[in-house]
Amino acid sequence: MNVLLTGGLGFIGGHTAISLSRIGHSVYIYDSLINSDKTSIEILNQICDNEIFCQIGDILDTKSLTRFIESNKIDTVIHFAALKSPFESISNPSIYFNNNISGTISLIRAMENNKINSLIFSSSASVYGPPEYNPMDEKHPENPINPYGKSKLLSEKILKDLAKFQDWKIIILRYFNPIGAHKSRIFGEFANEKSNNLLPYLYRVAKGDFEFLSIYGNNFDTGDGTGIRDYIDVMDVADGHIKSLEYMFNNDNYKKDNASIFNLGTGTGVSVLEMIELFEQVTGIEIKYKFEDRRQGDVGICIADPSKAMEYLNWKSKITTEESINNGWNFFKNNC
Ligand code: UD1
Repeated sequence: MNVLLTGGLGFIGGHTAISLSRIGHSVYIYDSLINSDKTSIEILNQICDNEIFCQIGDILDTKSLTRFIESNKIDTVIHFAALKSPFESISNPSIYFNNNISGTISLIRAMENNKINSLIFSSSASVYGPPEYNPMDEKHPENPINPYGKSKLLSEKILKDLAKFQDWKIIILRYFNPIGAHKSRIFGEFANEKSNNLLPYLYRVAKGDFEFLSIYGNNFDTGDGTGIRDYIDVMDVADGHIKSLEYMFNNDNYKKDNASIFNLGTGTGVSVLEMIELFEQVTGIEIKYKFEDRRQGDVGICIADPSKAMEYLNWKSKITTEESINNGWNFFKNNC
């Protein structure tokens, strides 16, 4: 199929491009470069046997998107393009709502202009908000606590209405904490100063950019007091998209309305201190750390129940956290 990836030069989009190309799909990327770099196109083409095509453009530019879909005879779309920092979204809600919600609407209109109606949406565990129980299944209440999470939830609701009232095929994937890098170690997460996730920070400490890692909170209700998360390898996340495409197009059980949302996580949790220990074991590099106050909105434990993805998509995570750390660190060390 000819698959359009909006935001396809980013961390998850780029890895999904690699997986799609490997199994023979033609990949067309539309990306604004707001959180990615032009050099990624060459890197992706170095990894992939079939050429990946890319146009630089803004998701809000419906006309340009319409033309791109038309001229490349796109069959289906995976929508990654979005701003993704929950913390930044608190100080810039309107920018997040504009890019993430208006961006989704712009894409829908461009797809309608071309009479295509199947889409996989890149969502996040942040739509759940503070966990009422762990592990969280897809029936967990949705109560996002920042504009980023709200922008994802509202986009989900718009897409679900297209499936309900129009004849759209929609699959929504809620990622937990993606980490790692492709095994070539030439494509990964190009972390910048805006990135405040744990692994990029840990890598920067290991590389000597910072003297120590700040651990935000040591008094959560967890075994060692530090936050527990469900870290999932990015290639496993990419595979979730492949399995979703297969399910959407090749499985008679696909029911657009009741089986369209899936968690992508491992189902197991790792604390910050455990992650530091694993990193030290894998790399032999000692990480200094300091305990600091909790970040606003951080929760103690956030773990996926991924059993629905197993049942419907035949998907589960395969890559160990050690292997993820190894690939992620080797990518970071050589490229960032
Ligand atoms: C955050 C977002 C989530 C997003 C996810 C992946 C929030 C509330 N959630 O999740 O929406 O999908 O990133 O991009 O922002 N930590 C440290 N020191 C650091 C960085 C992190 O101790 O320098 C701790 C955090 O307190 C947390 C864990 O490491 O316990 C993971 O943090 P992080 O990687 O930022 O991801 P989340 O907060 O889970």
